[in-house]
Amino acid sequence: AVNLKGRSFLTLMDFTPGEIRYMLDLGHDLKSKRRAGICDPTLKGKHIVLLFEKTSTRTRCSFEVAATQEGAHVTYLDSGSSQMGKKESLEDSAKVLGRFFDGIEYRGFDQKVVEDLAKYSGVPVWNGLTDLDHPTQILADMMTIEEHCAKPLNKVKVVFPGDVRNNMCYAWMIGAAKMGMHFVGLGPEELAREMDHQLTKKIFEVARENGGLIEITDDMGCLKDADVIYGDIWASMGEEDLIPKRSELLSPYRVTEETLKATGNKDVLYMHCLPSFHDFETKLAKEWKDKGVDIREVTDEVFRGRHSVVFDEAENRMHSIKAVLVATLA
Ligand code: CP
Ligand code: NVA
Repeated sequence: AVNLKGRSFLTLMDFTPGEIRYMLDLGHDLKSKRRAGICDPTLKGKHIVLLFEKTSTRTRCSFEVAATQEGAHVTYLDSGSSQMGKKESLEDSAKVLGRFFDGIEYRGFDQKVVEDLAKYSGVPVWNGLTDLDHPTQILADMMTIEEHCAKPLNKVKVVFPGDVRNNMCYAWMIGAAKMGMHFVGLGPEELAREMDHQLTKKIFEVARENGGLIEITDDMGCLKDADVIYGDIWASMGEEDLIPKRSELLSPYRVTEETLKATGNKDVLYMHCLPSFHDFETKLAKEWKDKGVDIREVTDEVFRGRHSVVFDEAENRMHSIKAVLVATLA
């Protein structure tokens, strides 16, 4: 039997396929219980802290709502409102937080920060996004695929057109390798060259062990037979100065109706971690448009079209994060 109590959730690389399966099943189960109005607060009396050095809507709210529904209490600290990393070392802050809290969520830049928080705090640490990974997102994505696609995960092909060297692409490569899936990062060679080769090599090995296939290519032919086209913004949080360059480099990879047609799959799913630039309604997209830069990674037509499951996916962030909390704390 799988037992994850006391474990940190820093990257799916640390988990076996069986353990990932367990968290997905728990997520589906907690979702149906919530829908049925069944409430069994398994985290009563627990306290968790959420540390955010980057902004968030889904991840923060998922942790807050999931923890509260399970009876836990949540404290939120953003980078401006604690001593951590400025007047106090990460090590000392982690040791203090570990005395107060039963678990720590962290969103920020360096993957080493989540590792150090886990090392020094002595309590479970959950990765809410770093520059290298976004593992809670992948659990929500896999749950969503299982809800909408009749095939088992190890028969599913996901194509990710865009910034192949970003956290979402790595997170997907790791998750897909573990679950024996076919994942293709589709993007220009210029970005592929910037990938972390050591990590990529390790991911390829893990994929081989689990019967998965991970590819990075600039060949649009890879769209054929995709079950899922997965989107993300072209310049991640902290990379805003790269927006003009990335928009130029990635414009051939914008997801349009043509992209979906190229899969030859009439039931192809469109997914996106969100937030997304699919029109010029958001302030940032509008500001760049006025400067002649089109930052849309997907058209509004696709984003709002019949293939899109992006809001089911967003809802599943909450259920899957609840699964991680319950599995590691209850
Ligand atoms: N997908 C995701 O992590 O969204 P937020 O940045 O809003 O948390
Ligand atoms: N790659 C994006 C993901 C947001 C959920 C970013 O890091 O900004």
